Amino acid sequence: MQAMVDASPPKWHLAHTTWFFEDFILMDYKPGYHYYLEDARKLFNSYYETLSKPFPRSKRGLISRPTVREVLNYRRAVDEEIIALLSQSNELDEKFYSLILLGIHHEQQHQELLITDLKYNFSINPLKPSYKKDIENPSEWSFVPPLTWDYFQEGVTTIGTNNQGFSFDNEQPAHKHFLYPFAIANRPVTNGEYLEFIEDNGYETPVNWLSDGWATVTEQKWSAPLYWEYIDGTWYQFTLSGLKPVEKNQPVTHISFYEADAYARWAGYRLPTEQEWEHAFRNEPVEGKFLENLLFNESYESDKTIFGTVWEWTCSPYTRYPQSARPEGALGEYNAKFMSNQMVLRGGSSATPRNHVRLTYRNFFHPDKRWQFSGIRLAKEEQ
Ligand SMILES: [Fe+2]
Repeated sequence: MQAMVDASPPKWHLAHTTWFFEDFILMDYKPGYHYYLEDARKLFNSYYETLSKPFPRSKRGLISRPTVREVLNYRRAVDEEIIALLSQSNELDEKFYSLILLGIHHEQQHQELLITDLKYNFSINPLKPSYKKDIENPSEWSFVPPLTWDYFQEGVTTIGTNNQGFSFDNEQPAHKHFLYPFAIANRPVTNGEYLEFIEDNGYETPVNWLSDGWATVTEQKWSAPLYWEYIDGTWYQFTLSGLKPVEKNQPVTHISFYEADAYARWAGYRLPTEQEWEHAFRNEPVEGKFLENLLFNESYESDKTIFGTVWEWTCSPYTRYPQSARPEGALGEYNAKFMSNQMVLRGGSSATPRNHVRLTYRNFFHPDKRWQFSGIRLAKEEQ
């Protein structure tokens, strides 16, 4: 299934992440290696123009062959080849290990997309299928910490990383950044708080919106977050456990940047910059609700909800860091070529693998995208 261009079919994700190991590692490190599936590159190269002409993204749902069984066999065969290579570890260079690490982190990104894409693909089915049973104890949703603020003085801070352990090229290098005084909220905005915006005609009031946001809301006829439906006087939302009433105490999610920005303006605040976000939370443990919890129903755990649960839109455009270097060859296309017209999100979501995200991790999407688990954290100038 591929219900929209952004939501790839599960089979494609499985094959594409396998092809990545084949084309970026086996072709270079195994002498005389031949592709396991002859035409894998034609079908499963996502966007690496320097390798071959990528198959159109919008048509991934039409790849009827190879079959699922053939793709699973392809995965097994490539896994075995990689494991065999790893056993010859004394003949391998540092680049080999960094490519293995990149291949694993790449696969983690697609694990998250498997979930978000499945949710979208299921959502258009009027039978509202359920991926998994709902959580046993919805009383968990009764807890919402009061909104509080952490205050920060002006000064020079360090943003990004010099790659101790793993990081993507777009997080490098560590560099100085000046911050004005600001305050940032302790938790993301709730469904209940967002409902007040809806009920105050937030979606119908142009003054709340950026120009592009207003054009999108008008054209797409948005009146609520993605997956929300108003039925007989009650708001429902489609979840991975089917259609459920909107719980006021859950964090709002499936929000575009435009909606996050409009909500913040309506509420009298603003979105944080990505540097404010990183500076504010640099001493926080990377703990929270992640993919491994298999919940996909977001909730607040403690007075501070920072990592996991929902990705948080920042007001920072996704651009290169000072003095960053673009990797050579096709891997230069991994992140750097998307640095226009997208906004940065921070923190990870309930669909992100726990050890995939870091303080310095930069996710990025176009400002009108809503199918990720994306929410709102507020910021303000220091009073
Ligand atoms: Fe990919």
